[in-house]
Amino acid sequence: MPDLEALAQLLYLTAGITRHRKHSGGDIYFRAAACTGALYEVEVYVVCGNLVDLEAGVYHFAPAEFALRRLRAGDYRSVLSEATGGETAIVHAPLTIICTCTYWRNAWKYQARTYRHFGWDNGTLLANLLAVATALGMPAKVICGFVDADVNRLLDVDPEREVAFSLVALGHVEAWAQRLPTKLSALHLETVPLSRNETVDPALREIHIASSLNAAEEVEIWRGNAGLAKLPPPTGPIVQVHPYSDAEMPRDPIEQVILRRGSARKFAQVPIELPQLSTMLDRATRGIPADFLDPQGTHLNDLYLIVNAVEGLDPGGYVFHPDGHVLECLKTGNFRAQAGHLGLDQQLPAEAAADIFFLADLQMILERFGNRGYRAVQLEAGILSGKLYLGAYAQHVSATGLTFYDDEVIRFFSPHAHGKSVTMLVATGKNAKSPLPG
Ligand SMILES: Cc1cc2nc3c(=O)[nH]c(=O)nc-3n(C[C@H](O)[C@H](O)[C@H](O)COP(=O)(O)O)c2cc1C
Repeated sequence: MPDLEALAQLLYLTAGITRHRKHSGGDIYFRAAACTGALYEVEVYVVCGNLVDLEAGVYHFAPAEFALRRLRAGDYRSVLSEATGGETAIVHAPLTIICTCTYWRNAWKYQARTYRHFGWDNGTLLANLLAVATALGMPAKVICGFVDADVNRLLDVDPEREVAFSLVALGHVEAWAQRLPTKLSALHLETVPLSRNETVDPALREIHIASSLNAAEEVEIWRGNAGLAKLPPPTGPIVQVHPYSDAEMPRDPIEQVILRRGSARKFAQVPIELPQLSTMLDRATRGIPADFLDPQGTHLNDLYLIVNAVEGLDPGGYVFHPDGHVLECLKTGNFRAQAGHLGLDQQLPAEAAADIFFLADLQMILERFGNRGYRAVQLEAGILSGKLYLGAYAQHVSATGLTFYDDEVIRFFSPHAHGKSVTMLVATGKNAKSPLPG
């Protein structure tokens, strides 16, 4: 049974404020996980039964005060078990974390693209959460299938502005007594306005509504075996990846790695080693416990790489086959300039040692998962990115998430990537500015 101290650790290393920088325009507070524009549109809530040192309730995590604010007293876990159609991990969880996303916090800058950012920014945060839960010996499962309106009502968020995006069931106890959910009263809590006006692109709410699940029966049908086709076996030249063995792996505890993490602002144009890249790829793709990735190990995104400077690998374009632990070479050559262009004409992907793009067959995913598949694939991309960040920083290598030109990336990796869409990009390499402390 988790106690308050374990919960505090989980919350701090997932969504806590870990760094602070003075800026001409004021102070910037950075959090444990990477986030587009450092806008932190993801909020974290806790729904729990009685824990050691924490009474049953529904709580909001306030990073600025590093405190939990109780929204409802009592055990409301049955609302989540109903809303997830009796998802086993929820039924056995002493606590569940709910992540919500607030449109305007991100959309004032990124407009409709914000919907992807919900998945990405929620995902990087979940990568930390999963890693810390593992370190604490706590089973964790990401849940994307739930009745949206029921979870939003439990938190009493205004769904025009803030919406539940993912759940994580944490811990395992014998199933708690099932109760029919009590009627949920409105909380009538005031919120501080974010701006004088909020003019959110209507497409955002439309995408959210179109990908909502409306009844527990719908959720039950939705989850289950992903049944998706895998990458075709390699036909081009292959290079075996060589991850470090457990004995060779750096031994820094997860909290050190998370506190060390910070997106690279400039890469040194020096190579990283093949075992370093291999370890990042291998550890990121060992499977995510999630209701849409059944059986575990299934993945919706494939990893495509532009290698600029990795010792033991010719520069070029590659696709990673996690099953065979091989990189398949799609083309060789120096593609630094193209990488810079594909990554929205930024220097970072041109200077990086390697750029890792996530590509997914959206058509196939939407056929299997309906519109909810769009949330799942973006969320998975975010989790994989967060894992790559952690894999890099664990080895004193640097990384950053990046945005990109969709169609041009597909053209670059075609014909192999034909029919796919890009979901995310992570660049990795040695940091030019401040070599990471040993
Ligand atoms: C999905 C995603 C996309 C990002 N895109 C860019 C980008 O295009 N250019 C950039 O310089 N940084 C990008 N970043 C890095 C963020 O600006 C950075 O995470 C944020 O400022 C918080 O800082 P930190 O990661 O150092 O904690 C991205 C981060 C994420 C998670």
